[in-house]
Amino acid sequence: MWQYKLIVALRQSYRYSGGMFGTLLNEEVVAVKVEFVETGNLEQTLIKVEGLREPVSLMHITDAHCIEVDDREGKDVLEEHLRYNEWIVRKNDYDLHGGVSPRYRVESVLKLCNFRQVDATVLTGDMMLYPSFANLDFLRQALKTLQSPYLFTLGNHDWQYRHMPWNDETRELYYPRFYEFTNNNPAFQAMEIGGIRLLAVDNSNYQITDEQLAFVREQLADGAPCLLFLHIPLYIPSLVEDIEHLWGAPIMMAAPGWQPERQSKWMVRDAEESTKSFHSMVTGGEFGNLLAIFCGHVHFSHKDEFAPGRFQYVTRAFFSGGYRWIKLVPM
Ligand SMILES: [Fe+2]
Repeated sequence: MWQYKLIVALRQSYRYSGGMFGTLLNEEVVAVKVEFVETGNLEQTLIKVEGLREPVSLMHITDAHCIEVDDREGKDVLEEHLRYNEWIVRKNDYDLHGGVSPRYRVESVLKLCNFRQVDATVLTGDMMLYPSFANLDFLRQALKTLQSPYLFTLGNHDWQYRHMPWNDETRELYYPRFYEFTNNNPAFQAMEIGGIRLLAVDNSNYQITDEQLAFVREQLADGAPCLLFLHIPLYIPSLVEDIEHLWGAPIMMAAPGWQPERQSKWMVRDAEESTKSFHSMVTGGEFGNLLAIFCGHVHFSHKDEFAPGRFQYVTRAFFSGGYRWIKLVPM
């Protein structure tokens, strides 16, 4: 049995009080009481959780965009790599890799994880810009230096060489390269850390499968307090303006409002039924034990509710120095 005091909530008892949450919506559902504490720091998140016995400390890293290659790759890969590097030089954007190789930065932040003695590190995708052998070797060696467990899910870049089509077939083809980081299941995983359940789900094609939906539902069903880690943010209305401004398209999961030509350029197909069900399950507050969502993909920091009293945190891209230190403490 979970050691948490779970509060059975009645729909009529729900009251949002600007940051303190005791109850949630559904007649059938239990809700864990939490408080999201304003830290004044975009890269630190503090959540008080009722019933938690010990503090839990996590590091969230997303979008490192490692670009290691070597002569194990073919001509197509090497040519694309050179083209990309030339583009970076022309762009002359300090924020984009900041003149320091992503490799160096990844090594440094993993040292920081050890220094802070985090209970786990969660990597939410686009750790690499393509699944090259050199990127995989680097990541394997780097992750071995961690003194606590890690959880890994994929982004839209991890599984695609830049000369290949970006589609589900390509993802399927390169999934096996990520088995070693995902306990042989890149599609979804769960990990228990200090009484908190961490769920990682690959939504890097902007979709959730029936199997992933069933997995998440099953993990949430026993009332354990859960955090969900995804690459692509869930559509929430307050994210639209900033994302449109930076990307010119609503690159979120289950987002409405795509212009047809943009949608085809981004190769994002309409949300499938299972994706819509997942989105409405989560944003409808069906499970009051889903405390927060953490994701990346759009490269800037953002925080807002995905359901009443429950927050989605987008973490700034690691290639421009972003990461998020998540602390959960007893209420
Ligand atoms: Fe991405």
